Amino acid sequence: MTGVGAALNLGAIARGDSVMVVGCGAVGLSAVQGARLAGASVIIAVDLDPAKLALARRLGATHGINASSDDAVAAGKRETCGRGVDVVIESAGSAAAFRTTTGAVRPGGQVIWLGKIDVNKDVAFRWGSLMQEKRIRRVSYGNARPRRDFPLLARAYLDGSLMLDELISRRITLDEINDGFGALKRGEAIRSVITFD
Ligand SMILES: NC(=O)c1ccc[n+]([C@@H]2O[C@H](COP(=O)([O-])OP(=O)(O)OC[C@H]3O[C@@H](n4cnc5c(N)ncnc54)[C@H](O)[C@@H]3O)[C@@H](O)[C@H]2O)c1
Repeated sequence: MTGVGAALNLGAIARGDSVMVVGCGAVGLSAVQGARLAGASVIIAVDLDPAKLALARRLGATHGINASSDDAVAAGKRETCGRGVDVVIESAGSAAAFRTTTGAVRPGGQVIWLGKIDVNKDVAFRWGSLMQEKRIRRVSYGNARPRRDFPLLARAYLDGSLMLDELISRRITLDEINDGFGALKRGEAIRSVITFD
């Protein structure tokens, strides 16, 4: 809901827009799909893990940028003829990722922050990256209205346009829940689903 909602409820993504998603865990991979459902023509996925980028491309990203070796801001400019990206969604939960968003968005474009960091930490920005009428929003849960949005998500899953099975890395029992959290923390799983037999 958080990732798809960021794209569909908040991003005001128009058909043909460019979108960058910084951080491709379950939230970011859902934002990639939301951008695809909204009709974005350029969808740039950014992560540090090549496997996450490969999955992002299966789910609709048109480009994958590894931020540990490539400059995501420069990549955003490159793929938009130097203009900058229309809508940039942050779903990594890191200060570096927040900085990438304001650098990559075009003048007048939109930035949506989903990630969380320690609430007592400061995040520093180059001042110039905040100028030029950029619109920045921090949002929770994709501005969900469950009665409206959950049926939409279910229908999109059933018609194949929202790919959820791809986000399930493993199925575990309740006894294995701590292993599930460990795998999440180590970045080894997108999501583990607990099954009750
Ligand atoms: N706003 C909300 O309502 C809401 C809801 C759920 C989760 N969250 C937050 O959203 C974030 C993402 O959640 P998730 O479950 O997908 O997490 P996750 O840990 O599964 O995914 C985060 C991804 O970001 C990548 N990453 C880390 N630093 C990066 C950087 N500098 N540049 C690019 N990629 C980077 C990681 O490799 C990882 O793939 C977390 O901070 C989480 O707390 C917010």
